[in-house]
Amino acid sequence: MGTNINPDRVADLTKSMEEALRLRTKTSGEFVEEAKQVLPSGVASSFQDQLPHPVYIVEGSGSRVVDLDGNNYADFHNGFGVMVVGHAHPTIAAAIADAASKGTHFAAPNESSVRVARELSRRFRLPKVRFSNSGTEATLDAVRLARAFTGKDALLKIEGSYHGHHDAVMVSVHPDPTKIGPRAQPVSVPQSAGIPQSLLDMTVVVPFNDPDALDSTLAANKDIGSMIIEPIMLNIGVVPPDDGYLQAVREITRKHGVMLIFDEVKTGATVAAGGAVEIYGVVPDLVALAKATGGGTPIGAVLGTEEIMAQIAEGTVAQMGTFNGNPLSMAAAEATLTQVLDEAAYRRLDEIGKRILDGCQDVCDRYNLPAYAVGVSSKGCVMFADEQVVDYRSYAEHFNESLNYLGWLYHMVNGVYMTPGADEQWTLSVTHSDEEIDHYVAVFEEFAKDVTQA
Ligand SMILES: Cc1ncc(COP(=O)(O)O)c(C=O)c1O
Repeated sequence: MGTNINPDRVADLTKSMEEALRLRTKTSGEFVEEAKQVLPSGVASSFQDQLPHPVYIVEGSGSRVVDLDGNNYADFHNGFGVMVVGHAHPTIAAAIADAASKGTHFAAPNESSVRVARELSRRFRLPKVRFSNSGTEATLDAVRLARAFTGKDALLKIEGSYHGHHDAVMVSVHPDPTKIGPRAQPVSVPQSAGIPQSLLDMTVVVPFNDPDALDSTLAANKDIGSMIIEPIMLNIGVVPPDDGYLQAVREITRKHGVMLIFDEVKTGATVAAGGAVEIYGVVPDLVALAKATGGGTPIGAVLGTEEIMAQIAEGTVAQMGTFNGNPLSMAAAEATLTQVLDEAAYRRLDEIGKRILDGCQDVCDRYNLPAYAVGVSSKGCVMFADEQVVDYRSYAEHFNESLNYLGWLYHMVNGVYMTPGADEQWTLSVTHSDEEIDHYVAVFEEFAKDVTQA
C-alpha cells in the first residue's frame, strides 16, 4: 500500500517544520523552562508533554483555541477527546455557573446525579451506575467489581490498550516490540517502573481482533475472571473491531464465566449516544465511562448489571470518593447529555466524521501515501501504515511514527491544533464548521504534496 517515502526528505521537512512551530510558539517554549522549576517536564500530566516543546493554551471557544503566543487554531485535539460539545458551550457554561453559585461541593447526594445516572443507564443499557472523577477511577472500579464478583484475581486485557494509570492495567500498553514475546503467548510488559511483579503476573494479554486467541487463553487459564477491552482501540490511532469480533468476545467470555468490561472512556458519548454498546449492539457486564460524558468537567462512571452492582449496596465492594457526583460535574454532565448531545448532534458528528475521512482518504489515494483514513463518527485519524492495522502487533510493525509526527507538525504550523503522539486521533465537535474540516484536509494535502515530491 502506497509509495515509498524518502526518509531524508522526511527528516529535512521535519527539521524545518519543527523550527517553524518553535518560532510560532516561542512564548510557550520560554515559559516551559519556568514551569519545569515546579512541574516535571513543565506539564501537569505526562500526556501534555510534546516535541518540540509543550504548547500552553490560554482559552477556547466553540471549535477554536488560543495559545500563549496568541495563535488561534481550529481544535481537533479537543482535550484528548473530551470536548465533542466544543469549548465554553453556552448551555453547559450556564449550567456550571448556576451550580457554582449554589455551592461547589457538599460530598452529599444530589438530585442531578440521579438524572445523569438515569440517562447513562438508558444510553448504555445497564441498570446501575456509580460515579467517580476520571477514566482511571472508572476502570479501577470496574476491575474491582468484576474481581469481587468472580472471586478470581487474574485479569485479561488487550495488548496495546490503555485503560488509565492504575497498576492493574498499566501492562502491555505500548510495549517495546522486542519484549512482547510470541503472538500465541504475549509477555505482560510493565508500562512504567513501579508496577509490582505480582500485578504483572495477574494481568494476561491477548491480541485484539483475535477470538481464537481469546478462547484458547481463557481455556488454558482458569484463574482469569475478568476481561477489559476498548471496543474500538483508540490508543493506537483508530482500530475498529472486525465484523462479529465483539459478539464473539461476548460469547466466549460468557462461555468461560468471565466478566466483560467495555472501557468506553473514549468511545462513550462520542461515537454514538450509547457508544460502542449502541453501534455494535453488544452489552457487556460492566462499562467504564469518563471524558466526554462530563462535558469538559472531571467525571468517571462505572455501569453494571444488577447482580454485579449489588455488591456495592451490600457493602462487599468499596466504591467511594470525596468528589464523586460533585455538583459542578453533574450539572455539566446533565446539560451535556440531555440538552447538547441530542440526536441532531450525533447526526452532525457522523456527517463531519465522514467528510474528514473521505477528504483525507482522497489525499492518501491521489498521492499514493503509505497511509489510510479510518474512524468512527467524531473519532478518526490518518493511519500512517502501509498495511491495515488490526492489532498492536500490526501497528508496531507497520506504523510510521516519523511521517505521523511530520503530519502533526504541518497541522500545528497551519492553524490546526491536533493531538500529539502516535497513539492519538482527532475528535470532532458539534461546533466544527465544514470549512474547518476542509482546512484540515487542505493542510494534510500540503503535507502529502511536499513529502512525495521527487
Ligand atoms: C480508553 C481509556 N481508558 C481510560 C483512560 C483514563 O482516563 P483518565 O485520563 O480520565 O484517567 C483513558 C485516557 O486516555 C483512555 O483512553
